[in-house]
Amino acid sequence: MKLQTVRGTRDLYGNEARLFREIDQGFSRIAALYDFQEMVTPIFEFTNVFKRTLGEASDIVTKEMYTFEDRSGDSLTLRPEGTAPVARATISNSMLRDLPLKYFYSGPMFRHERPQKGRYRQFNQFGVELIGVDQPIADIEVLALAQQFFKEFSLLDKVQLEINTIGDLESRKAFQEKLVAYLTPFKNDLSEDSQTRLEKNPLRILDSKDTGDQKITASAPQFSDCLNDASKKFFDQVTDGLNQLSIGFEINPQLVRGLDYYNHTVFEFTTTALGSQNAVLSGGRYDNLIETMGGQSTPGVGWAAGTDRLALLLEEPSTKHSTIAVISTDPTGDQETLPILNELRQNGIAAQPIYKGNISKKMKKANKRECSWSLIIGESEKQKNIVILKNLSNGEQKEIPRPELITFLKEQ
Ligand code: HAM
Repeated sequence: MKLQTVRGTRDLYGNEARLFREIDQGFSRIAALYDFQEMVTPIFEFTNVFKRTLGEASDIVTKEMYTFEDRSGDSLTLRPEGTAPVARATISNSMLRDLPLKYFYSGPMFRHERPQKGRYRQFNQFGVELIGVDQPIADIEVLALAQQFFKEFSLLDKVQLEINTIGDLESRKAFQEKLVAYLTPFKNDLSEDSQTRLEKNPLRILDSKDTGDQKITASAPQFSDCLNDASKKFFDQVTDGLNQLSIGFEINPQLVRGLDYYNHTVFEFTTTALGSQNAVLSGGRYDNLIETMGGQSTPGVGWAAGTDRLALLLEEPSTKHSTIAVISTDPTGDQETLPILNELRQNGIAAQPIYKGNISKKMKKANKRECSWSLIIGESEKQKNIVILKNLSNGEQKEIPRPELITFLKEQ
């Protein structure tokens, strides 16, 4: 039997691992421009951190969490997302006295979903949470950050921002009543999942993937009809801000999101390039989350992006992994390359020895390992105090005096 990874998990290496690193580095650099600091929370939490906050009837809580009892008998859950842990941390560490709090994070999340391209059981998310600001400028700022990320990774033409408002509590209650009144006569025609949702979480029926459900919801009442003035004004200010910054968006009245903690603004950056896994970054406002968890009432807004999905969109890392192959012409002289390797690395130049074999074998290996240059030394080079440098992309070869080596390479 071949040893395999658990279904829905995979090993990252080569280009994909480099892409993940590049995405993370780009993201943390941009997050710093918006004054977000890093937060690292544990990979598992008490189950209640998620159960009470994401929604007892949400897909994540009902069927996707990796929950287990540990040796002390505590119910623990591998984090399925990062917002509830950050909210929990602001309470655990008494951070809510000094607002706003602006944190970014990146790391693995776990959901027992049906695996397919772009959907895994262990996946990586990076995201931001802006806590303590109830004005629309916070929503605009986190969206501007997302937009800058897509711009800097040249992905703007592959993604589309969809945005909606689900209003405040009062608006949501009014809408929920209207929606249930509309859907109840169709109850028997709804999918099994949606029949359950009709009682537990009717809003979720709006983003059902079932085509039968979709036909019914196509003429359902719209959220916009039930928004009170305060909610309308809030959303208008958000969209005005986006226009002011020339951030393109489309209002999608069906967008409701699958987690219970949202209110007001909800959004997703979607793509058509990844089949059904079309959301690459999603989030929204969560003004009641921290209070639900036992902290003082504190608003928040944020988003998380799927690194795995972005890596699929980007395909190749932008930087080439280029090193210099340091080769001794003497098959037993590999150890003599050590001082040169050391000098290159100490000067910030990536270098690797090519082990074993005659010179032609070593040159082949250097090409195969995609080195940019081969640096060759043998007895006669040592005596003349030079090295031979071969440019492996065009085959040109030069003799370089040993003392000029670093300066020469830095100029290339
Ligand atoms: P979410 O929509 O559940 O939101 O996930 C955010 C992103 O994670 C998705 O847009 C997608 O790119 C990625 N993602 C989700 N599930 C998977 C999976 N199984 N495989 C690969 N990628 C996946 C949240 O998690 C919220 N905490 C976002 C948020 C932050 N809201 C406010 N602040």
